[in-house]
Amino acid sequence: MAAESVQSNPDYGIDAPGLVRFFFGAGTVSLVLLLVVLFSSILGQTPKIAVSTLLGMTATYLLGMGCFMLYGSKVMKLKDRDKLLNLVQWSGYELVLDVGCGRGLMMIGAANRLTTGKAIGIDVWQQHDQASNSAAAALSNAATEGVTERVEVKTADMRQLPFPANYFDVVLSSWAVHNIEAESDRRKALDEIVRVLKPNGTVVLSDIVYQVEYANYFEHHGMTNVQLHNNSIRDLGLKAVTFGSFAPSAVSACKRA
Ligand SMILES: C[S@@+](CC[C@H](N)C(=O)[O-])C[C@H]1O[C@@H](n2cnc3c(N)ncnc32)[C@H](O)[C@@H]1O
Repeated sequence: MAAESVQSNPDYGIDAPGLVRFFFGAGTVSLVLLLVVLFSSILGQTPKIAVSTLLGMTATYLLGMGCFMLYGSKVMKLKDRDKLLNLVQWSGYELVLDVGCGRGLMMIGAANRLTTGKAIGIDVWQQHDQASNSAAAALSNAATEGVTERVEVKTADMRQLPFPANYFDVVLSSWAVHNIEAESDRRKALDEIVRVLKPNGTVVLSDIVYQVEYANYFEHHGMTNVQLHNNSIRDLGLKAVTFGSFAPSAVSACKRA
């Protein structure tokens, strides 16, 4: 597949762009309503204080969530990438799969650690999960990071991976499996991840929810050394402000030999 023109910096995109637009849009509307209430005389003194307090809190929350989601996509995920890759003992000749690679974040991070190995990214390119994700965008980022010859991108659904059993030394995934809504379908994706992993191979699965579900699945499906990796203070804070809907952390495990 042809890459887009080579850019000077990689662009790993914005996740859930519709939700980000909603937070900024609804936050702006709340802010405008707040200004209307504050600078008009449509309400008496007591209701004015109550309504403007409510609108102020709503605007702060919505705009804060919008900013936070941008921060997650643009800063937090990049910082976490190296920590996640450090969970693998690299030799440089691994065959690596990035499940739901989007614009190539983990695939390219892995390729940077390879010498003779190769990193393959698969995705179905759902625009509502990540803005402007495509094979071309992932390859363009790979060119920018200088790893074109060590990556390959395919269009494939994670519930039906187009690879033989016991094929990959390492399987990575970042913020992708939760995009499958039904638990039974997420289980199919996990079945596929375990199937394509070689015995003694390592999986590192990072996500914003369902990590305990993944860990339990791995425990019961022939995996060893199942570990949950979370930054407890940060995760507790994130869980609290997002009502449990956003708490990034990772699960790692090895396939039994
Ligand atoms: C939030 S993005 C994360 C992308 C990338 N892993 C990253 O961290 O930047 C989630 C990705 O999962 C992909 N995805 C969603 N459902 C999928 C499926 N059933 N099979 C393969 N990819 C899927 C989306 O197209 C999207 O690119």
